Amino acid sequence: MSVIPPSLQLTAGGTLYDRIGPAALADLVTRFYGLVAENPDLAPIFPADLTETAEKQLAFLTGFLGGPPLYHERYGHPRLRARHLPHAITPTRGGAWLACMQAALQATPSISQADAQELYAALARVAAHMVNTPEPGQIEPTA
Ligand code: HEM
Repeated sequence: MSVIPPSLQLTAGGTLYDRIGPAALADLVTRFYGLVAENPDLAPIFPADLTETAEKQLAFLTGFLGGPPLYHERYGHPRLRARHLPHAITPTRGGAWLACMQAALQATPSISQADAQELYAALARVAAHMVNTPEPGQIEPTA
């Protein structure tokens, strides 16, 4: 009898990284940062030159989707929430980030719709965890 719960079993066809492949993943990341650069909510908190940011993101997603752990090898433990703390990530910015990702996925036909949905769902969970700042003008409820 299997002791692995169904949700942790590998989907047929290997990891998401195997199914998407490095070329489509690189296309997705390039397209995503093109949209981030044009997004009025996101552009102000990102560097003007997104080359290095995109390289880091591609390295991170490669490992995150089950490929080689490139980010760990090059930059160490991601500590993603800590690395995002210097940036004011409001719920609006979290939504804008995900909207850019959704649009980038839709514009990358080499990623199947099923894989795009699985990737988006995983990223939505991480994105929710990155939100670290209330909307401007909102007072945080006291505990
Ligand atoms: C919730 C919305 C998010 C916003 C507004 C946001 C914003 C940012 C910003 C401003 C940077 C710094 C860019 C730079 O200086 O190069 C950054 C870096 C990064 N972000 Fe995000 N991010 C979000 C969500 C995510 C998610 C969901 C992931 C992973 C799935 C992610 C992965 C990364 C990585 C890997 C880096 C590079 C970290 C490093 O400096 O080594 N981010 N992000």
